[in-house]
Amino acid sequence: MDHSYPEGWVFYRNLHHSYPLITHGRGAYLYDEEGKNYLDASGGAAVVSLGHGLKEMAEAIYDQAKKTGYLNGMQFTHAPVETLAKQISKFLPFPEGKTYFLTSGSEAIEASIKLARQYWVEQDQLSRFRVISRKPSYHGNTLAALSLSARERYRETFQPMLTESRMIPAPYCYRCYRKESYPSCQIKCAWELEKAIQELGEENVSAFLTEAIGGGSIGAAVPPPEYFPIIRKICDDYGILLIVDEVMTGIGRTGKWLASHHFDFVPDIIVMGKGLTSGYFPMSALAAKKEIVDSLFERGKSFLHFQTFAHHPVGCAAGMVTLDHIKKHNLLSRCSEMGSLLHKSLLPLLDHPHVGDIRGEGLLIGIEFVQEKDTKKPFPRDKKYAENFVRKALKNGLVVWPNIGHADGENGDLVLVAPPFIISQDEIMQIVDLLGKTLEGMKNNT
Ligand SMILES: Cc1ncc(COP(=O)(O)O)c(C=O)c1O
Repeated sequence: MDHSYPEGWVFYRNLHHSYPLITHGRGAYLYDEEGKNYLDASGGAAVVSLGHGLKEMAEAIYDQAKKTGYLNGMQFTHAPVETLAKQISKFLPFPEGKTYFLTSGSEAIEASIKLARQYWVEQDQLSRFRVISRKPSYHGNTLAALSLSARERYRETFQPMLTESRMIPAPYCYRCYRKESYPSCQIKCAWELEKAIQELGEENVSAFLTEAIGGGSIGAAVPPPEYFPIIRKICDDYGILLIVDEVMTGIGRTGKWLASHHFDFVPDIIVMGKGLTSGYFPMSALAAKKEIVDSLFERGKSFLHFQTFAHHPVGCAAGMVTLDHIKKHNLLSRCSEMGSLLHKSLLPLLDHPHVGDIRGEGLLIGIEFVQEKDTKKPFPRDKKYAENFVRKALKNGLVVWPNIGHADGENGDLVLVAPPFIISQDEIMQIVDLLGKTLEGMKNNT
């Protein structure tokens, strides 16, 4: 551990780390005050989809701020929010869906479970409030979102403040909780939802909350095609709402507007964030089926959730540029193509004794590290493999995003590779080279 205390007045997220001071970014690159450049292979935390320093984004934000930098969503509406909600409705998997804008993924997750609860209250089903989620999973760091997230490291200190949650195993085939394989497993992890509902009593369950394709928590693990149709059937059979967390996967990251589009099912509520503005403004959203919103309206009610920065005009203007830019430059198909190239080019790393698995969809790829390949035994936590990998990669001029704890709650090391959609073929090859170089440099860490 680095014991030097950070100087200055910033309360840094990590008090034992010294952060490079970035002066600007262009495309897939970031530049620090000493002139060093970093290839941003994770778009921050899988946020930056359009690349850094996009002039038309800066101009749109400036133009909107000149008109109205803020409007209270309880008092007014405005063109950016109307337009962005309409644009989003075109790719929602349900007709005439309505979108509510907030500022972070965690908040939008909290809002989504509150909407589900209020829906049931308006249906006079007052006992329905329990939300079932998955393990491993991550839905955010605010208390309710954390209660629904299986992230031991984040939960431990706050355990007494968290609400009790029922979780079912996530479809994480590399570390199947039953040590079975697809397809002979018959997707038992999906059927665990039925067991959980029966255990809690269906009259008490409000919703099932799930990531579409795993984010950091299971390193971009893609569920088998049958998974979501089974989940949808169970939700329908027991009349519970299906909330899909697309905070990391939404807005093109997996090569489609939503990762849900890769599967044959329709969620009831979809939560988005991160890539909605490509990180140029803090922005998240929940989109709900029309019937859900109608049911509040018909009872003379409105959604009992509001926050000061909801429906922010500048955020919505940034969201409009994001969607327009993705359409104008065909970035969904580019994301698929570059994602396939990146995936294919990374596969030779599987020959390395400590690379256990490489998986993902589009430009969301997880690389899982193990101490022993045959047994999938993770490195002991005190090796801090993922953290050291990320630190070494940064020294080599490469930004990747770590995740730990997925193997058993405590151990497990992986990195996410999630570059901007504008990444070039040359830059993909540089990512692969720098990852290889970083792996070699990890020899002393094993
Ligand atoms: C799948 C998922 N859901 C929710 C969140 C929380 O979003 P935020 O950090 O914007 O609150 C994240 C953040 O990483 C995430 O990956």
